[in-house]
Amino acid sequence: MVLIKPDALRRGLLGEILRRFERKGLAIEALVLRGMDAALADQHYAEHVDKAFYPPLKEFMTSGSMVAAVLSGDQAIEVVRTLVGTTDGRKAAAGTIRGDLALSNRENLVHASDSPDSAKREIGLWFPDLV
Ligand code: CMP
Repeated sequence: MVLIKPDALRRGLLGEILRRFERKGLAIEALVLRGMDAALADQHYAEHVDKAFYPPLKEFMTSGSMVAAVLSGDQAIEVVRTLVGTTDGRKAAAGTIRGDLALSNRENLVHASDSPDSAKREIGLWFPDLV
């Protein structure tokens, strides 16, 4: 599951980011435009709520609309994370979404599930009808 974050929508990068996933050959199984409230932020980022970077991350993630999408394809989790790049846009490799388009480790355009378990948990939060 991916979240295309508020910075991406504010910057008009939704189409560019979806295009990269589609061109790779991934299929969009579900897609929704919606915001994240404080409660959903705490659930989605449960593993980060005690970290120092969480309060500003929460403020950012609740600051505007996002697109949540479920993508499928061969080794989709690994493939998506390779396309997205490492967390800090300033250090992410050129050719990746963050490497090409982001200049921050907070406002980094995309969140991508990092394992089958986290994908299942996150799909349950964003697409309860699918689970
Ligand atoms: P994401 O892949 O959504 O997972 C956790 C998010 O926390 C990450 O992308 C960044 O947006 C943010 N994040 C992680 N580390 C830091 C950090 N050191 N400083 C600020 N934000 C961070």
